[in-house]
Amino acid sequence: MAGHILSGRVLSFAGDPFEEGPGAARFHEAVAVAGGHVAAVGPLAELRAAHPQAQVVDHGDRLILAGFVDPHVHYPQTAIIASWGKRLIDWLNTYTFPEEMRFGDVEYAGEIAARYLDLTAAHGTTTMCSFCTIHPESVEAFFTEAQARGQRVVAGKTCMDRNAPEGLRDTPQAAYDQSRALLERWHGVDRLSYAITPRFSPTSTPEQLEALGALWAGNPGCLMQTHLSEQLDEIEWVKGLFPQARDYLDTYEAFGLLGESGLYGHAIHLEPRERDRLREVGAALVHCPTSNTFIGSGLFDMEGLKAAGHRIGLATDTGGGSSFSMLRTMAAAYEVGQLRGRALHPAELLWLATVGSARSLRMDHLIGNLAPGMEADIVVLDLASTPAIAQAVTRAEDLWQAVFPTIMMGDDRAVAEVWIGGRPVAGARR
Ligand code: GUN
Ligand code: ZN
Repeated sequence: MAGHILSGRVLSFAGDPFEEGPGAARFHEAVAVAGGHVAAVGPLAELRAAHPQAQVVDHGDRLILAGFVDPHVHYPQTAIIASWGKRLIDWLNTYTFPEEMRFGDVEYAGEIAARYLDLTAAHGTTTMCSFCTIHPESVEAFFTEAQARGQRVVAGKTCMDRNAPEGLRDTPQAAYDQSRALLERWHGVDRLSYAITPRFSPTSTPEQLEALGALWAGNPGCLMQTHLSEQLDEIEWVKGLFPQARDYLDTYEAFGLLGESGLYGHAIHLEPRERDRLREVGAALVHCPTSNTFIGSGLFDMEGLKAAGHRIGLATDTGGGSSFSMLRTMAAAYEVGQLRGRALHPAELLWLATVGSARSLRMDHLIGNLAPGMEADIVVLDLASTPAIAQAVTRAEDLWQAVFPTIMMGDDRAVAEVWIGGRPVAGARR
């Protein structure tokens, strides 16, 4: 297959900039794409010689990098994003649960799944890991839509059997049976993966957590996603519901829901034992900074956790998060870092939104970087997409200074083009 060559400023990572500094980033003149994969990165002349039939797409001085990976989202909350004035528990009861109730209707679920995937593609996100609702239809709708787009996504039925309204509760057995049926139908089909999904300990009985732990033990190739220690009130509630537990993490650990393929969203207010155990087992923590400031949850300890060797992803947490954009999410991570006294470097922010998030999903051998053999999910960023950003860029003395205004102020106007599985997404601007 002849394929394409995209020329511009192609960014890849040869290492982790948190460990090696910004020098872990590499810049190349071009990337060659063929058969849905990256064939090569390197000098344009070399790639042209190696791929004489390829069509060259010249992006000038635009930044070309792996598509953004968003490892913690709730696609069913698309319509209630930016709802005013509540903290976590009230926000769930007031806005989230009534909206999630609607996803038993497969047509509505399909409509929102399509809108969500359109919105996120326009913002340069090519892979996400989504909670669905308790309705199997919500999972069917999301996978069906993602499959039609050739997208690599992870999703799971959100399980809840207590502390949720009538109509949004299943049972331990139904959670097990429905999750298993969905897993068997979708996991590993095309680019789709299933994640076993207990929402969080307060909305599951010990029996349900145990049932899902058993399902995970039988399917260790699946991810397991949930929430952990997001807000102080929530932690108090968990202590009351699970009086035997040593801490919040123990409510998962005791039921087989702690493991190396576990994804724990938020993880802000962690006890020392929880930090140690999460690191020991190699679980992934997912930082959701726009959500943490929007719902008023707290400030994630990126520096301490990264230095201790945790695997960390960066996510929007749509719609507790206030944006679909991973650019805005990087900006919020920068702001949270500043409040904790550590200015994250643009290389670290871009690494988190691509390689780091792909690693949190254990998919960094497939996505999140531009290197030969990786899947060709690509975002092309215009670094002067608005007058304000263009003006800021005129003062830039190096490439990182030229990228930073787009991280801080860029939106979907900065996303010039998006490629999914080696194909440009229809309707994307040039
Ligand atoms: N904890 C349990 N469910 C949710 C949710 O939907 N959003 C957020 N931010 N936290 C949660
Ligand atoms: Zn969440």
